[in-house]
Amino acid sequence: MAEATNIYPIYDKMMSRKDKETLLGQRGVMIWFTGLSGSGKSTVAMGVERELHKRGILCRILDGDNIRSGINKNLGFSDEDRRENIRRIAEVGKLFVDTGIVTLAAFISPTDESRSMASEIIGEEDFKEVYVSTPLEVCEQRDVKGLYARARKGEIKDFTGVSAPFEEPSSPALSIDTSVLSLEESVNKVLELILNNK
Ligand code: ADX
Repeated sequence: MAEATNIYPIYDKMMSRKDKETLLGQRGVMIWFTGLSGSGKSTVAMGVERELHKRGILCRILDGDNIRSGINKNLGFSDEDRRENIRRIAEVGKLFVDTGIVTLAAFISPTDESRSMASEIIGEEDFKEVYVSTPLEVCEQRDVKGLYARARKGEIKDFTGVSAPFEEPSSPALSIDTSVLSLEESVNKVLELILNNK
């Protein structure tokens, strides 16, 4: 193993974020979706991705189920694991933002503390919180993955909204309730937020 004394930082020789943004002709930003399971975070993020792609804007979705089957597959749903989940996602997300990419993170991220940590890691300037505020009753009625039914039966413990808390964000950049807005309306609101960030 190389000793610490043999390590030479190369940061001063690396191309900068500005260089990447100039190359791409866009600005990196983190759009951080928070909300209950089944609220529509991933669906809206995918709609936004499609629209940005059409406009020639490079973006990347980081999504709960994908990240939890890869980099975070050793994590569960205890408070500590959820915090570590969000910490790693924020660190990975920062790499994308620093490459000039519009990054869309879709995680429940149920606590103020974890969302503040994410904002701190990424940098407040680059962190836009989008609260997908679809009510619990609607998420539970949709129950796309059948998890609410299982949580009610006690088969899944610490399930957000049922047996684990969700703290509503107090001042998100944007709130969208997908039980009131159509998918297109929701997508357009997020697009506006991104395109006005230029
Ligand atoms: S977070 O709380 O750590 O931010 P994350 O968004 O990564 O959660 O994962 C949430 C997804 O995991 C849910 O959409 C659901 O499919 C699944 N899941 C499994 N167990 C739980 C649980 N106990 N609470 C919430 N979601 C769960």
